[in-house]
Amino acid sequence: MIKRKLEDEINFKDLIKNPLRLFGWIYPLFFLLLIVLGVMYVKNLRQISYNQQPVLLQDSIRVWQDIEEKKGGILPAVDLTTLSNPSQDLIAAGKELYDANCQSCHGADGKGDGAAGVALNPKPRNFHETEGWTNGRTFTDLYKTLQVGIIQNGMAAYEYIAPQNRVAIIQYVRTFADYPAVTEEEIAQLDAEYKLSEGTETPNQIPVMKAISLISSETNQQIINDLNVINYIDESGYKLFREYAVDKIKIANAFKFDEVNSFDNFVKILQSDPVTLGFKAEVLTLNNGQMKELFDFIYKITS
Ligand code: HEC
Repeated sequence: MIKRKLEDEINFKDLIKNPLRLFGWIYPLFFLLLIVLGVMYVKNLRQISYNQQPVLLQDSIRVWQDIEEKKGGILPAVDLTTLSNPSQDLIAAGKELYDANCQSCHGADGKGDGAAGVALNPKPRNFHETEGWTNGRTFTDLYKTLQVGIIQNGMAAYEYIAPQNRVAIIQYVRTFADYPAVTEEEIAQLDAEYKLSEGTETPNQIPVMKAISLISSETNQQIINDLNVINYIDESGYKLFREYAVDKIKIANAFKFDEVNSFDNFVKILQSDPVTLGFKAEVLTLNNGQMKELFDFIYKITS
């Protein structure tokens, strides 16, 4: 083999004549770059596969609506005269409520042909028909239907609508056809059963998701307070916790239930999926003694 000096290799005149020779110089660099990228990829494999979990199917069961936020208080008593003798204003208010709450299933004209009711079996009631009702067509029957719903048939309960507003809706529904007249006796019975003329007290209500986040932010604050306690600083459990915990709040929430509070359970749960629980995967490399220290610390801050 002919030995060449370095100067020969980077002889520019030569290079211009034969640029492919440059490749010989760049090739090792490329190779190095590939190796570096490869190592980075493998190191981050856990994160990469995490981020790429495809959503296989939309979970149709999880299409839901949270309850609305409402201030509680006394729901005004129902004016009993509106049961037998509704004003035009009341019926107009009833129509508005009907359009907002019922029309989607029962249809704009009360024919049971609303878009949301198409797939339901039995079909939403056609309010123009006089036969085949499940609860019946009297005022009391309608009130009961709204109070408890016919859940098994897809008719929800609307007990959260204020009684006076329910009366308004019913009076509007009754304009679709001839309904049995409301007798004094019926009114008295209805009042006795549902305490319409007394008014009802309702508690404050907030959406479930909001409640969850409020509760968890309270506990989180508690946990964070605990973590700030200077006492822990020198504890080896605390050091391990700081080293291996990724999401401290998640961990504290995961381990605050009583059934976890034995060391064996803790290890079992931890081994099942440390990453989802909020740890680094490397936590599994701890030896038994360290594991115990970690457990003792978590147990202390969460109980
Ligand atoms: C999600 C669709 C849906 C919505 C929204 C809905 N309903 Fe219904 N409703 C039904 C279905 C389905 C039935 C049929 C139940 C049956 O046949 O037992 C029904 C039946 C009824 C009946 C007849 C009960 C009987 O005795 O047969 C009344 C009255 C009624 N709904 C009133 C209302 C009112 C008032 C509203 C609005 C506040 C409303 N519904 C909203 C689906 C719905």
